[in-house]
Amino acid sequence: MTIFEKIVELRAFIKNLKREGKTIGFVPTMGALHEGHISLVERSVNENYFTVVSIFVNPIQFNNAQDLEKYPRTLEKDYSMLKEAGADAVFVPTVNEMYPEPLNRNYEFGQLAIVMEGEFRPGHFNGVATVVHRLFEIVTPDKAYFGEKDYQQLMIIKSLVKNLNLPVEIIPCPISRENDGLARSSRNERLTEEMRKAAPFIYQQLVKARDSAHELTAQELEKKIDTEFRNHKLLELEYFKIADGDTLQLIEGEIPANAYGFIAVYAGDVRLIDNIRLI
Ligand code: PAJ
Repeated sequence: MTIFEKIVELRAFIKNLKREGKTIGFVPTMGALHEGHISLVERSVNENYFTVVSIFVNPIQFNNAQDLEKYPRTLEKDYSMLKEAGADAVFVPTVNEMYPEPLNRNYEFGQLAIVMEGEFRPGHFNGVATVVHRLFEIVTPDKAYFGEKDYQQLMIIKSLVKNLNLPVEIIPCPISRENDGLARSSRNERLTEEMRKAAPFIYQQLVKARDSAHELTAQELEKKIDTEFRNHKLLELEYFKIADGDTLQLIEGEIPANAYGFIAVYAGDVRLIDNIRLI
């Protein structure tokens, strides 16, 4: 496994692979890797000749300075996990390497970026799109792997690729969960013992929501989940929204096929997100 810190070096390496007609799979991450990330890497290793993983904590997608500062960094452990998973190259640029000049392109995602994470984290998706677009330009992958854990992000990236005709295939990957149902996340590392014990409640509520999606309207279901969290002593609900799985249009009334439930919860100062297909 080769570690690249410089764009020119990675590009030269990839140019050679391309000349030989080799396929390239790409998994962008912010590090603090866990089994969820590794499931994406393993899939890429299976489907491509060469797999590149990037580790870059992208400052321009954080709208909260504390969240950026406290984002876990475990580089040495990340390297050994990636080696074991069969990754061929890791790209770990500095902020200066990625953004020698302030770079924040303006993307237009319409409805996809207005709701949920777009509403509660202003500027977040523009920062995500900026870095992913730039990483695609550097790595020029045939396929890129994204987790459904960040479902809205996945839709934004699909839209980016479609609108700009980028020559990359986006591969969605299922959510990897702990045994108690909690969606794996780098931020789980920051949960106190008490909050870690409480956190599986989030997925339990999503499953409950799915179980009653046939009997309730969207408003009734959202209210029901809201009440469950109001009665919970530790976890604080930021939103639970029901939206179409393709357009992310919020749903009112009867819940149709392809509707998803999207949730964001504060466990102390740690913000967790999750989602589930309802029908
Ligand atoms: P990060 O949170 O490190 O996640 C990297 C990739 O792993 C994303 O595609 C994310 O959806 C996926 N992932 C994380 N947890 C997962 C889980 N439990 N199951 C399945 N997939 C999971 O998402 C980002 O980084 C950044 O926004 C990035 C795309 C790298 C741009 O900076």
